[in-house]
Amino acid sequence: MKDIARQRMSISVETMDLLNNQIKMEAHASASYLAMASWCDQNAFTQSAAFFYNQSVEERSHMMKIFQFVNDCGGSAMSPAVGETNHDFSSLEEVFETALEQEIQVTKSIHNIVNECKKNNDYNVENFLQWFIVEQLEEEKTMRDILDMFDLIGRDGIALKMIDERVTISEGEGETE
Ligand code: FEO
Repeated sequence: MKDIARQRMSISVETMDLLNNQIKMEAHASASYLAMASWCDQNAFTQSAAFFYNQSVEERSHMMKIFQFVNDCGGSAMSPAVGETNHDFSSLEEVFETALEQEIQVTKSIHNIVNECKKNNDYNVENFLQWFIVEQLEEEKTMRDILDMFDLIGRDGIALKMIDERVTISEGEGETE
């Protein structure tokens, strides 16, 4: 019975497992951005807090996009358990460095799934993930642009305030369709 059910899936079991792992990563990213938003809020970086609240919502929507795709393909999407989330940051710069590092890991994971799709002839998954490849490029660029401001503007109190004022949610962010 299990084998017949699997034959009805339009993705391979290997790829489904990788997508379920990606669901977990996106859920963790959402939780992590929420922690960053909280830190920014507590330290009066209001623009950065708004930015991370939005990022958190966006990551959840990425998770849901993959979740629904797995089920649409006849697979079994697994509701993820989110483990410990770091709330401890020493500076605004460290928050954005952590965010960039997180995005780089997500990008690597997406690229790895695309490579596996090629091996398993999962063309529809490969096609589905193209949106995520473009999205990751944009998200990494956003974080790098913000981090560049620390070198350009500085790291003292006034500079941090100026950087925070320049952290904006660009048009189209938060949208997943
Ligand atoms: Fe959905 Fe930015 O990882």
